[in-house]
Amino acid sequence: MVGDFMRIFFTGGSGKAGRHVAPFLAGQGHQVTNADLVPLDHPGVADLQVDLTDAGETYSALAGLATFAELDLPEKPAYDAIVHFAAVPRILLTSDAKTYATNVLSTYNVLEAATRLGIRKVVFASSETTYGVCFAQGERRPLYVPVDEDHPTVPEDSYAMSKVAGEVTARSFQARTGADIYGLRINNVIEPHEYAEMFPAFLADPSLRRRNLFAYIDARDLGQVVQRCLEVDGLGYEVFNVANADMSVAATTRQVRDRFYDGVEVRREMGRDETFFAIDKARDLLGYAPQHTWRDAVADPGAS
Ligand SMILES: NC(=O)c1ccc[n+]([C@@H]2O[C@H](COP(=O)([O-])OP(=O)(O)OC[C@H]3O[C@@H](n4cnc5c(N)ncnc54)[C@H](O)[C@@H]3O)[C@@H](O)[C@H]2O)c1
Repeated sequence: MVGDFMRIFFTGGSGKAGRHVAPFLAGQGHQVTNADLVPLDHPGVADLQVDLTDAGETYSALAGLATFAELDLPEKPAYDAIVHFAAVPRILLTSDAKTYATNVLSTYNVLEAATRLGIRKVVFASSETTYGVCFAQGERRPLYVPVDEDHPTVPEDSYAMSKVAGEVTARSFQARTGADIYGLRINNVIEPHEYAEMFPAFLADPSLRRRNLFAYIDARDLGQVVQRCLEVDGLGYEVFNVANADMSVAATTRQVRDRFYDGVEVRREMGRDETFFAIDKARDLLGYAPQHTWRDAVADPGAS
């Protein structure tokens, strides 16, 4: 599928991550439809107002046209792929119950419609929070580091529970059809302008990043991962950690380990500044090669 034109149904394209990734995919020459409650208003991305918690709306939008130009085609085209980002993206935006209901229902509706319409590629946003560290009451440490996709996902908060439920649902639909459904356990998304705003504090105090396993994902590298997921076929159901290669703190991996992970099993040798959010699987199976680092945007206080 490398380089081929795709008609992509992108949910949540108006949000923090989607407003980078949806235009990036459109820039690769794909037809991108943004299904969201609010428009993105980006040239090259078609906006469709859809409430994905409504199964009928979701099915209708996925079965329908993307643009007026498509009226001139001899037949209505089908979507080749779905990128499902729409969600309530963390706890404490609305009630826990609504967070869970919105995310679980919308993900089910998207996956059921994809299944019934025969769409063979779905990429969906899961989350680092599935590992249970991010939104734990009090301090909870990973069982081992670096945290890879085999680490247990037994979180206690409503948002992360909704993401685990989304993964289980995706795995079940994939078993029904054999389609490719890839889940992205996305770390904390950082937009380019946020380096200057946020990183000076992170670099001064690494404890601010404990709940994110000290990792981050540049929104542009997230776009690359999604692109690779669309290009790499035949993996069936898989989940991938998605982070940058380094950490979001100035301290070295060894220093962070000594201070925050004393007594936590270390499963392998790690690089000097290597992320604790293991991205080996995305590198190996998708060919993901992160391009960005905070070091290009903010001065490293430890560098001489
Ligand atoms: N931002 C992060 O650091 C981060 C980290 C890990 C995972 N994620 C996941 O990545 C995805 C994108 O996150 P984000 O930060 O861009 O979130 P966001 O809130 O900025 O964007 C989500 C978008 O989904 C839309 N949406 C919500 N409910 C909807 C519904 N019922 N129907 C249609 N659209 C709906 C919203 O209008 C919004 O535009 C989410 O699934 C989130 O859980 C985000």
